[in-house]
Amino acid sequence: MSKFILSSSILSADFRFLSDQIHLAEQSGVDWIHVDVMDGHFAPNLTMGPFIVETCRKITKLPLDVHLMIDNPDLFVEPFANAGASNLTVHIENNANIHRTLQKIHSLNCKAGIAINPGTSASIAYEALQWADLVLVMTVNPGYSGQTFIPEVISKIEEIHTFIQNRHLRTVIEVDGGITKDTLPEVFAAGADIFVAATSIFKFPDGVQAGINALRQSVE
Ligand code: DX5
Ligand code: ZN
Repeated sequence: MSKFILSSSILSADFRFLSDQIHLAEQSGVDWIHVDVMDGHFAPNLTMGPFIVETCRKITKLPLDVHLMIDNPDLFVEPFANAGASNLTVHIENNANIHRTLQKIHSLNCKAGIAINPGTSASIAYEALQWADLVLVMTVNPGYSGQTFIPEVISKIEEIHTFIQNRHLRTVIEVDGGITKDTLPEVFAAGADIFVAATSIFKFPDGVQAGINALRQSVE
């Protein structure tokens, strides 16, 4: 039994061979497939839409962990749910009606997540955590894979972990950005349950299986 859930971000996969890359990650022991959706407004990049999620759904039965870094997420949760998303995570920074969005996601039979950027205080998300299945704490700024982990976020993860325990919530903590075998142990100790990784899986020098092994073994 693994100590944590590993969600592999296809942002660093070789899209010429998307199907092979996902199958390789699955056979190498990842738990979820993470899909990073960016709109060029909320995040300074354009990436994937519902069509990619639909394609991933045809490739694997693993949960599809969809991270929406977009404006107006309410307009898009339904197309992503219909495409086969398992989890839909939306940012809190641009959403004055986060409760409504989370309700909508649940009504579409998906797990609902709240994401918070490195520069956003934990307390901004506190009230809404009771309605979320997961909270995704960004340890880089949204936009690209391959960025450097921001260590100051560790104390925020500890703070959120304590809040969740004190309130007896069932919300789990996901961490996303710059996760490697070197950064993972400290974040694990801070209370994170789910780890997203792109570069340290799909661009690991010795291959995907070796990358996943290194992440798994970092806390054993
Ligand atoms: C960043 C994305 C991340 C990214 C992680 O905007 O949300 O999921 O793909 O990439 P690595 O693991 O390379 O930092
Ligand atoms: Zn992500």
